Amino acid sequence: MTFQNELINWYLINKRDLPWRHTNDAYTIWLSEVILQQTRVEQGLPYFNKFLANFPTVSDFASATEAKVLKLWQGLGYYSRGRNMHATAQIVVRDYHGIFPNLHDELIKLKGIGEYTAAAISSFSSGEARAVVDGNVFRVLSRYYGIDTAINSPAGKKEFYALANELLYQDDPALYNQAIMEFGAIQCKPKSPNCTICPLNQTCYAFNHQLVNTLPVKIKKAAQKHRYINYLVCFNDEKVLIRERQAGDIWQHLYDFPSLETIEAYGLDHPVFIEQIKGAFGEDVDFEFVSSKKHLLTHQIIHLQFFILKNYIFNFSKQKELNWVSLNKVDELPQPKVIHDFIQEYFYKQKME
Ligand code: ADE
Repeated sequence: MTFQNELINWYLINKRDLPWRHTNDAYTIWLSEVILQQTRVEQGLPYFNKFLANFPTVSDFASATEAKVLKLWQGLGYYSRGRNMHATAQIVVRDYHGIFPNLHDELIKLKGIGEYTAAAISSFSSGEARAVVDGNVFRVLSRYYGIDTAINSPAGKKEFYALANELLYQDDPALYNQAIMEFGAIQCKPKSPNCTICPLNQTCYAFNHQLVNTLPVKIKKAAQKHRYINYLVCFNDEKVLIRERQAGDIWQHLYDFPSLETIEAYGLDHPVFIEQIKGAFGEDVDFEFVSSKKHLLTHQIIHLQFFILKNYIFNFSKQKELNWVSLNKVDELPQPKVIHDFIQEYFYKQKME
C-alpha cells in the first residue's frame, strides 16, 4: 500500500471527532485553524466554541469591538493573532461581501493567513489541491523519509514543501491533509511515539535506523531576552488603577497595571527601586510585595513581581492610558493571562473570604 493510503486508512480508524471536521464553511475553518496554531486541540476546543457562539458569521466578528475579540482570545497568548483576525474579518466584509474566500490565492492576501493556513482553509473548504505543512507534517516526513535538513532553515522549508506537494493525494486533498496532521499529532508524536504499533514502521526510515528521537532536526533559536517588570498595584475600596498598554511592546491594547521595568530583579530593599517608586508615587508611599511569576513568550522571559501600593500620590489624570476601573468591571477588560490570574487570586479571592 502507498504511504498516502496507509495514512488515510489509519486516519479513518483513529481520527478524533472534532467539530471543524463536520463543515466546509471557510469562515468556521479559519476560526479553528487560527486558534489551533496557538494551542493544542484540547485547549483550543473551548475557544473555538466560544468564538463561534459569539460570532456565528464573519460579519458578527467584524462588527465586534476589538476589546471583545481580545477578551475572547484571553489566555491564548500572542495577541496580535487575535487583532489580525479582527482586521481580516473586517476586510472580508468590506471587500468580499462577507463571503469568506475559500481559494488559496485569495486567502494568502489576508492578514494573519500564511502558507499553512491558506493551504488548510482552501483544501478543507473547497478541496483545492494544496498540501499543508505544519509541525506535524514536518515530523512525519522527516522521520518516514529520513530527511535531516533543519525544518526551520530556508533549505529545509523548500525541501519539505516540495515533498509534501508531491505526496499530496490528488483524489481527496482535504482527507489526506487531515490524515497526515492527525497521524503526526496522535501516532508520530514528538516524544516517545509508540512505533511498535505504527502501520508505517516497516518502511519508516527513522524507525529502521534508530533515528526516531533524532528527527526532525531543528536549529536552536537565539537566546531569549529576560525582562523584569514590577507591577505597582493601586486600589481603594471599589476601584483599581488600570493601564491600557500602547503600541510598540508586548500585549498591545490589553490592560494591566502601572509598572516599573528594571534591569534585574530588584527586591523591596533595593535603593534604586525604592527611589524610583518614591519618585513616581511620592515620598510617603508604602509598598508591599505580594507575589512573583515567570511568564514565557516566544522571544522573551518575563519576570513579574506584584506590589501593592499604599499612601501614594500621583497625578494620574495626566496619563491618558491610566484609568480607575471599578473592581466588578475589571474582569470585562482583556488582560494578559498573568494579570487575569493575579486579579482573580488577589481581588476576587479576598472578596470571597
Ligand atoms: N491542528 C491544526 N489544524 C488541525 C485540524 N484541522 N484538526 C486537528 N488538529 C489541527
